[in-house]
Amino acid sequence: MRTIFLGAPGTGKGTQASVLAEKYNIPQISTGDILRQAVSEGTELGKQAKSIMESGGLVSDDIIIALIKERLARPDCASGYILDGFPRTVPQAQSLDDILQDSAPIDGVVYFDVPEEIIITRLTSRRVCSKCGYIYNLITDPPSEDGKCRICGGEIMQRDDDKEETVRNRLKVYKEKTAPLKDYYLEQQKLYVVDGTRNVDQVRADIDKIFQKFSKA
Ligand code: AP5
Repeated sequence: MRTIFLGAPGTGKGTQASVLAEKYNIPQISTGDILRQAVSEGTELGKQAKSIMESGGLVSDDIIIALIKERLARPDCASGYILDGFPRTVPQAQSLDDILQDSAPIDGVVYFDVPEEIIITRLTSRRVCSKCGYIYNLITDPPSEDGKCRICGGEIMQRDDDKEETVRNRLKVYKEKTAPLKDYYLEQQKLYVVDGTRNVDQVRADIDKIFQKFSKA
């Protein structure tokens, strides 16, 4: 089960990846989470990424590709993984093809289709648990009334890049740099489109059906 979750910011990739990774017992590899952790730990990578992420831009391909190459070589990726937020540019996708040349290729790419107006509402109302990372939404899935995480009791926070102005810039960057990947994987006959406007459980059921196809192939 080697998959890529592709889609604009706020389309639900992280929400679905965390649950499906657990269900299928494979790692969720989120480049955004790896970078955010580096920023919070103040590592060299975090220092390089911080201002780029705050503005809604993309961290350089070289840094991200090196990071993914090292991550995919770890033993927990042997039976599969969900790539969440990678690749994000055509050079990243080409590098992934190169990295996987001598091992198993990607089974398929799940593309989350959601219109821009819905994305902006979802992202400006997104909140996350600072301790366990659970993704909330003030409208559809709010945290408990005391403002704490329902799962672990951790503090709830808003991501720095979820302010409306930054969200709009992230969408602009997405259109320029990441949207062309849809055609890239369509040409490879690996693209599976999911209607991301349906509720979380419906979207999950759709992806589950796609995963069943991969496991039978
Ligand atoms: P990253 O963390 O990857 O952010 P993103 O791709 O912008 O994705 P998001 O996490 O914003 O959205 P999502 O699709 O996961 O949505 P979610 O499930 O949370 O990247 C952050 C930054 O890191 C980038 O801007 C860049 O700077 C850098 N970076 C990362 N990877 C990089 C790379 N490869 N190259 C270069 N730079 C990189 O859902 C959103 C909200 O909607 C939540 O509140 C959720 O509860 C709600 N929701 C989800 N599904 C539904 C549904 N079906 N119905 C109703 N609400 C829903």
